[in-house]
Amino acid sequence: MTSESSPAARPRRLRRIAVRAALVASAVACLAALVIVSGLIPVPASSGHWAITSWFLHFTMERSVATHALGIVVPDLDQKRLVLIGAGHYEGGCRFCHGAPGTRMPRVPQASTPHAPALGAHLENYDDAELFYIVRHGIKFTGMPAWPAPTREDEVWAVVAFLRALPKLDGAAYRALVDGGGDLYSAAAPRVVQDKCARCHGAHGQGRGRGAFPRLGGQKLAYLRQAMQAYASGSRHSGIMEPIAASLGTEELQEVVSWYAAQAEPAEEAHARSAQSDVAARIPLCEACHAARDQSHDAFPHLAGQHPDYLAQQLTLLAEGKRGGGPYSELMETVVHWLSERERGALARHFGSATTPAVK
Ligand code: HEC
Ligand code: HEC
Ligand code: HEC
Repeated sequence: MTSESSPAARPRRLRRIAVRAALVASAVACLAALVIVSGLIPVPASSGHWAITSWFLHFTMERSVATHALGIVVPDLDQKRLVLIGAGHYEGGCRFCHGAPGTRMPRVPQASTPHAPALGAHLENYDDAELFYIVRHGIKFTGMPAWPAPTREDEVWAVVAFLRALPKLDGAAYRALVDGGGDLYSAAAPRVVQDKCARCHGAHGQGRGRGAFPRLGGQKLAYLRQAMQAYASGSRHSGIMEPIAASLGTEELQEVVSWYAAQAEPAEEAHARSAQSDVAARIPLCEACHAARDQSHDAFPHLAGQHPDYLAQQLTLLAEGKRGGGPYSELMETVVHWLSERERGALARHFGSATTPAVK
């Protein structure tokens, strides 16, 4: 028996192997550090990825999305209202990277690695929960951004509802969703209203699509200003309105809110709701703050004339602590906790008015 194979020699041999392995590992680490420090690794977007790298990264991304989307519960997405909201946002928030039906792919984003793909029939490879996960969280190292307002998963679902419709749209059908084919505009409106607001809210603030986009015309000036400031600062949460509000300069903001506040007041019909509402006992409470315009605080919104579906949605968001708002929003958050879901719906119908233009 040699000393090498004796039981006493075994720990020594193991130690030698461990030392060698450690030496090799540190040599590799030094080499890697040297390569990085030397600046030899190429990072230009202009050279793209090798086909194998592209495949590997995309496969890894798809597997990660599939696993993380497990357990996400999909709501009812078959609603025209959701498709309209999603389309409205896509035009301002996604198209500049992903392009849209009827137009060429935008050039600048095409020059990045990886670049945003045209979103078409291949979206079928993802189920609704996976698309939700991608739009809600974005994709690291690619430039695909996360949803800017994390509490507003309802808005992300609206985008998913639109992505489901997208592969079937031609240019004309896309435009009809995004701006109702054009009759939401008015030459009388200021330029900034035409360019940045009209396609969703209408040039006269008439709202659109069963409360998909709220009515603004005739709303109190102070409330409109405060709502825009709250979106711009992120204290009112919306991945759709926050970027739009943040993009306005001080003068533009003043111009748009003054314009909308001066538009026609909502129909009088909306004020005089029947007294048989099943939530009659709650109404005086609401009217303490939301009474006729001259009898309430400037920054408390006028509810009459707003679409009931929009009001109901806002009440749900307030109840779930997902809406945020201006400096007085805590008052409303306190009140909403006294209401059941059924009462929220009934009060939204009581105060609102369904006369906003139907879906176009
Ligand atoms: C700044 C550019 C940019 C913006 C804005 C952007 N994306 Fe992306 N998006 C990307 C890039 C880049 C990828 C590619 C990721 C990859 O190759 O793995 C991507 C990937 C995707 C994918 C997966 C596509 C596929 O084929 O695997 C979907 C779906 C998607 N984006 C939807 C959206 C939606 C919806 C919006 C708007 C809410 C949006 N993106 C906004 C850059 C963008
Ligand atoms: C892409 C469509 C879109 C565009 C463009 C858009 N909005 Fe909005 N706006 C929305 C949606 C959706 C909401 C509801 C957001 C929420 O849930 O908080 C909203 C809400 C609002 C509100 C809050 C209303 C209320 O009763 O509290 C104001 C004020 C507003 N928008 C003003 C504007 C102005 C001013 C512009 C132009 C500078 C504009 N919006 C452009 C979609 C849009
Ligand atoms: C103590 C005052 C107060 C009372 C009482 C009150 N509200 Fe409000 N409400 C507010 C304020 C302030 C806001 C604006 C929050 C913000 O966005 O800054 C608001 C906002 C709302 C909104 C969102 C409107 C929009 O355009 O987004 C709805 C809907 C609403 N209230 C319904 C009700 C109902 C229904 C009741 C009765 C149950 C009620 N409120 C009672 C103060 C009050």
